[in-house]
Amino acid sequence: MEKVERMGAQQPRPVALVGGRVRLIDQTRLPQELSFVDLHSPEEVWQAIAHLKVRGAPAIGMAAAYGLYVGLAKQSFGDSAELGRELESIASYLQTARPTAVNLAWAMNRLRRCFLSHRQEDVQSIKDALRDDALAIQREDETACGQMGEHLLTLMHDGMGVLTHCNAGALATSQYGTALAGLYAAHERGWRVKVFADETRPVLQGARLTAWELQRAGVDVTLICDNMAATVMAQKKVHAVMVGADRIAANGDTANKIGTLNLAVLASHFHIPFYVVAPQSTIDPDTARGPDIPIEERAGEEVVQWQGIRLAPEGISVYNPAFDVTPHELVTAIITERRIWHPPFAFSGTGGG
Ligand code: MRU
Repeated sequence: MEKVERMGAQQPRPVALVGGRVRLIDQTRLPQELSFVDLHSPEEVWQAIAHLKVRGAPAIGMAAAYGLYVGLAKQSFGDSAELGRELESIASYLQTARPTAVNLAWAMNRLRRCFLSHRQEDVQSIKDALRDDALAIQREDETACGQMGEHLLTLMHDGMGVLTHCNAGALATSQYGTALAGLYAAHERGWRVKVFADETRPVLQGARLTAWELQRAGVDVTLICDNMAATVMAQKKVHAVMVGADRIAANGDTANKIGTLNLAVLASHFHIPFYVVAPQSTIDPDTARGPDIPIEERAGEEVVQWQGIRLAPEGISVYNPAFDVTPHELVTAIITERRIWHPPFAFSGTGGG
């Protein structure tokens, strides 16, 4: 049997529930420093999500689920109806932290359903059930990432080159990541896979996070600027593009970090497969098509300055959409924990299947 060394233990865990607090890796401080912050309230969790201390679709869903539980756990309620009203208020509030990744709303809806199925119980039992369900979201995400990695392996070969964008790795999930799961799985098997990581302007998730976590795991990773992708493709160094997703519409149109669409267009031109890798919870069957996906616009400051250093003239106009939508025609396959979905994509029902 093939010897596979599991690297789960070395993986950074971006989110955890620790002693009634939400503990996060502060991703704004990477790669300079691996430091953690403890959050004590839904307001602190909201701020952490909005300011990218925690980011990546599955990770913000997990953080919000823990934030909701923490917000309820520290309060006293006369009865379950009172708890239910507060749950709705906190969940609706947390959902506003970022609009594009559907995993945030998905996690809140899951805890809403958990409450409904336990509402006949006493307040403490309901709180316990919500905590257990929030923990289950993270455990299930770990399993799902492992399964995505196994599916991806069937699309990969020893010696290949893979281009990825933003960070869809362990830092964006509970373990392994989505788009990076196959790279970790291949690495565990001793395959020589060469990864090209886009810097991912404006806030450099590729340079700061993907490069950091892959290098730390011993994966062969080369950092390129976003505008170098066409060149590495033209030089035949890339055999597949693998990206994550923040929301996948029913027809397979996919929102992901700004710049993903550029890569999809390039991949089509160079006849390179373009794979979208995400948990089923990222599929939103209630959103029919890409243009219906809400796209977050972030502060222009992210574009015109970096850590206090001005990069562009004062007063310049800036447009800063955080995500773009890749039309389904450009997607070769969508890989979830359940299976590899090939076109034509037509997702319906709960969980996208
Ligand atoms: O703005 P970010 O850093 O939250 O954007 C993250 C991405 O676009 C990821 O590719 C996506 O969330 C998938 S993470 C597995």
